[in-house]
Amino acid sequence: MRTSPFPSGFLIGAATAAHQVEGNNTHSDFWAIEQDPNQQSFAEPSLAAVDHYNRYAEDIALLAAAGLNAYRFSIEWARIEPEPGRFDSAAIQHYREVLDCCHRFGVTPVVTLHHFSSPRWLITEGGWEAESTVERFASYCGQVATELGDLMEWVCTINEANMGLQLYAVARDMAATMMPGSVQVGAPLDLGPLMARSMAPLSHLFGNIEPGRIAHFLTPRTLTGNDIIGRAHQAGRAAIKAARPELKVGWTLSLHAYQAEPGAEASVRAEQDAEFGQYLQYMDGDDFVGVQNYTRKRVGAEGVLPPPEGAELTQMGYEFYPAALAQVVREVAAQWQGPILVTEHGIATGDDTRRVAFIDEGLGALRQCLADGVDVRGYLHWSLLDNFEWMLGFSRTFGLIAVDRATQARHPKPSLARLGAYSPRPQPTEPATGEA
Ligand code: BGC
Repeated sequence: MRTSPFPSGFLIGAATAAHQVEGNNTHSDFWAIEQDPNQQSFAEPSLAAVDHYNRYAEDIALLAAAGLNAYRFSIEWARIEPEPGRFDSAAIQHYREVLDCCHRFGVTPVVTLHHFSSPRWLITEGGWEAESTVERFASYCGQVATELGDLMEWVCTINEANMGLQLYAVARDMAATMMPGSVQVGAPLDLGPLMARSMAPLSHLFGNIEPGRIAHFLTPRTLTGNDIIGRAHQAGRAAIKAARPELKVGWTLSLHAYQAEPGAEASVRAEQDAEFGQYLQYMDGDDFVGVQNYTRKRVGAEGVLPPPEGAELTQMGYEFYPAALAQVVREVAAQWQGPILVTEHGIATGDDTRRVAFIDEGLGALRQCLADGVDVRGYLHWSLLDNFEWMLGFSRTFGLIAVDRATQARHPKPSLARLGAYSPRPQPTEPATGEA
């Protein structure tokens, strides 16, 4: 397998999300739910997570030392705006230091402004089903771009904008359980019934809103909520561009590689349109699209098929199928005439040699996309660190770096260096001020 570097300027990096790694995200909706003794959806609370809020410099140093040249992380809205309209200058200063740290290590930051968790007050206002969220999100985006835009380049407004409708599709039949990989996120397989029984005791957390109106980002979305997310992205992009026209702005989408068995071609086209095509209307004016993929989905005449007999499965129960990434990248490029950034691709496994194979196969197929003229600008592996896999807790290990949560000590896995070998800048840049 070739591990020679990608062309100069290509981003090779790793990704994280604030709530999954920082710890103590106390003003967020998920923190409130996780702490509630009656909640049933989270296997465990995030607590200190992997303390990235305090250890980001060590983590970025490890990333750079392995030769990676990009780091995707998210800014936590609940920290920046803990109460409606009140922006926290200490939190803004923290993210200035994170951005600054990236630059000192020669690492290009890719910043996500919303990665699933939201301020708790937003859910009280109706969350991702409320019209007011469009303006609330735009105001937050404008504030971040004004305060931090001088250190930013690539900005993802919303992570996996299409996740809520995917959750709706799998939860639609409340009696049904999902198949592993039905949605590419850490959710239990009985999500539908679980949501139905677990929301009622939580309404006191959000101003006694009716349980059916609790709309955090990982609850099933209505079509109205889906459109609100699309327009929040557009309004957020406009606010960012008003403050900093030079920033590259896009959003990210969770995309499966659909493969049709004979007779299933039409239903696969419908699935692809539901997952990607319908979102193009909101992307007019975007500078790039973030593509996120973990596996393929085979569809037969009777519906979605389980992984083939004997297929290797990941800790998530997904089929090991790294080349799915190149398939979705090509499908996106057929409908979207702009740059593509792979903002997530990864594997939950306790066997790092399988992560190395996943990276090798995924990047091998991606390199072929470039050779064929597809405009891919970078690859950001999920994830830099073992972390909090949402409702499944810390049990799934996606990281290039292991973390001993008793001591918070970091242990880079061989896959970190392997990914670095693909970077056009294999030699780490020394920080200007001796940080490490
Ligand atoms: C999300 C991540 C998540 C990953 C692995 C993506 O859906 O953006 O937050 O950890 O998949 O499940």
